[in-house]
Amino acid sequence: MNLRHSNVNSVQETLKECPSPLALVPTMGALHGGHLALIRAAREMVGPQGTVAVSIFVNPTQFDRPEDLSSYPQPLEEDLALCEKEGVDIVFAPEIGTLYQPDHSVLVTESLLTKHLCGATRPGHFDGVLTIVLKLLNIFQPNFAIFGEKDFQQLALIRRMVRDLDAQTEIIGHPTVRETDGLALSSRNRKLTPIHRADAPRIRRALLAAQSIHQTGEQKPQVYLDATRHHLSKDAPEDFRIDYLQLVDSESLQPLAKVTSRATLATACFFGPVRLIDNIQIRG
Ligand code: PAJ
Repeated sequence: MNLRHSNVNSVQETLKECPSPLALVPTMGALHGGHLALIRAAREMVGPQGTVAVSIFVNPTQFDRPEDLSSYPQPLEEDLALCEKEGVDIVFAPEIGTLYQPDHSVLVTESLLTKHLCGATRPGHFDGVLTIVLKLLNIFQPNFAIFGEKDFQQLALIRRMVRDLDAQTEIIGHPTVRETDGLALSSRNRKLTPIHRADAPRIRRALLAAQSIHQTGEQKPQVYLDATRHHLSKDAPEDFRIDYLQLVDSESLQPLAKVTSRATLATACFFGPVRLIDNIQIRG
């Protein structure tokens, strides 16, 4: 069976012959250990007889900065080799024209959970994410789709979309995979300069410092935010900047007045032009 499919018809024809259950792992390629962990979790979910599908598509509608899109790594041959090695059954790597009609005019827009975090600083980004994810769910109609907790807001939004639009797929979250120094794996890490790469674990350290405050019983969000901001900024490289830092309810994603219920601290930081995100659960 052909591993790679580049159009919807071809993938749907193949799916007819694939045993269920089916798990889908949507990605934008440049696969790293985080993606591979999702692929392995997909295999665990469906068992040796089930079907694991991976989509690889650098989705233009979710990029709010043209330079981010044009510089996004696309090592397709390496990605295909990794998928083959992992025992993936189907790789859907479409050309852009096969997924979006030139006059496409329908987008999925969420209006509450997108008000904060990345939704506030990357206008239109989540319309693009939700639209492509719904298209993929419609194309594959998988039993399971697996997403990483590193993209905490993305995962919450996808769960909300599936709930509100009655998609028939179970959404599975997977814990963040990290380098040994704590930096969350990301396709963007390879764009960091050596100095920025060495410094980037400050994000994880700052979030861990905030998490440890919880043991003191502290309930004021500002205390957590001030401590994190301090750790993020202390002796940081000149071209480091915090895009946002927010403490939100883990499900509604609304800012908290008091840290008494499920709380997640999330941040996005720039190292020069490279934007990295991470989050930590302060209270489960
Ligand atoms: P991408 O950034 O390629 O990520 C694909 C999936 O891998 C996402 O679910 C993401 O959360 C997960 N992932 C990335 N880094 C991870 C890590 N260090 N640990 C665990 N999981 C990790 O996210 C996207 O693509 C796109 O927005 C997409 C959902 C494919 C829609 O275009």
